[in-house]
Amino acid sequence: MTRSKEQNRGTPAASQSRHYHELAKARIAGGVNSNVRLSSAPVCFASGKGSRLTDVDGNVYIDYALGMGPTILGHAPPAVTAEVSRTLALGQLFAGQHTLELELANQFCACVRSAELVRFGLSGSEMVQAAIRVARAFTGRPEVIKFEGHYHGWFDNILINMSPPVAAEGNPIPRPRHLQSGGQSAHASDDFTVLPWNDAGAIDQYVGANASRVAAIITEPIMFNTGGILPKPGYLEHLRRVTKEHGIVLIFDEVITGFRVALGGAQELYDITPDLSVFAKALGAGFPVAALAGRRDIMEMFASGGVNHSGTYNANLVSLSAALASVRELSANDQAAYKRINCVGKALMEGIAAAGRRRGVDLQVSGLPSAFHTCFATRPIHDYATYSSANQKKLGLFLSALLESGVRPTSRGTWFVSATHTDEDVALTLDAVEQGLQRIL
Ligand SMILES: Cc1ncc(COP(=O)(O)O)c(C=O)c1O
Repeated sequence: MTRSKEQNRGTPAASQSRHYHELAKARIAGGVNSNVRLSSAPVCFASGKGSRLTDVDGNVYIDYALGMGPTILGHAPPAVTAEVSRTLALGQLFAGQHTLELELANQFCACVRSAELVRFGLSGSEMVQAAIRVARAFTGRPEVIKFEGHYHGWFDNILINMSPPVAAEGNPIPRPRHLQSGGQSAHASDDFTVLPWNDAGAIDQYVGANASRVAAIITEPIMFNTGGILPKPGYLEHLRRVTKEHGIVLIFDEVITGFRVALGGAQELYDITPDLSVFAKALGAGFPVAALAGRRDIMEMFASGGVNHSGTYNANLVSLSAALASVRELSANDQAAYKRINCVGKALMEGIAAAGRRRGVDLQVSGLPSAFHTCFATRPIHDYATYSSANQKKLGLFLSALLESGVRPTSRGTWFVSATHTDEDVALTLDAVEQGLQRIL
């Protein structure tokens, strides 16, 4: 692979991508099919292989967006595409069962410590809804606690306080509810309460007074959607203790962390067993598959408790075979994929932070080697307020400079690492970071 910097010819304004974007806008709302992409540079990609993407102008990028996290084995991973191709000839969808379902369920439950029973679906958003529904049915309580800055999908009830204004003086608990979309029902989130994350006192204060109403607490175990913020030591344990004490269902949203930060997700990394957890993204290596898993007595409610979880395309053969191959690859050779990911990610995190220090820039790098976040802020990022203090304009200029050098983190400054990123990728990336920082000084 030649040096991506030399191949690029001035992204993202390159002519074919621009042309495509103009045509697409005339036929597809905004020219994109997910609103998250509205904030990305309008690059039209032709193909991806391993750690690299090629756009329609022939520019090559070292990709750290990885489809917003899923393609942990790189683009078009041979073991996964071969398995999917093999099952294509068997049919796609039977409105009935297939042996691959049980095979994947067994493999999944062997990886995920909290998984006694599992259901498969297609997206994180919908499985979060299933988790909330079954938690309410199980407890007979209405209320769900979510945290400021956490994202759990785009559905009306839970698309709140992902990026709210920073809490006013006095840090009210709970936070005022902040809707995040035009057309969103204000009432859908009536039973949701928003608290600051990583704040054991806020949990004690709110749950202490309202426990009998609270069905569930849902949390990203690592706050990857806002600043790559790690849980404070003891915080997840505190959530586990309080929820157990009050009969509240603890839901880990492992859509990003699952099969990424460890084979068994953040629950393995932090040695915590939630009651329910939601998986998607890295589970399917780029194919649409998601899972809700957890305690047998709660998950049984889908079988005998009258709780509905449905979906025409659930457990279709493409999704099942992709997930099976993906989990197999991630487990292979004593989990060599994670060793590679962590080694590359560590070199990137350290190299990027060192470049910032060398240039005297207020560049902050937070998270874990498998997924981390970069932003420009005078203080380390440890909560929603510090994240919100980051200089978005500077980040935008830095990301544009990186893209022009052929390096592509997400448009929010998150970097996902795959098992196919090479030492050469790291060296080229750190070169691009140096140049990018020089450009914004
Ligand atoms: C933590 C988390 N939960 C849920 C979702 C929603 O998943 P999906 O986009 O598959 O619906 C996302 C998506 O980025 C996420 O990051």
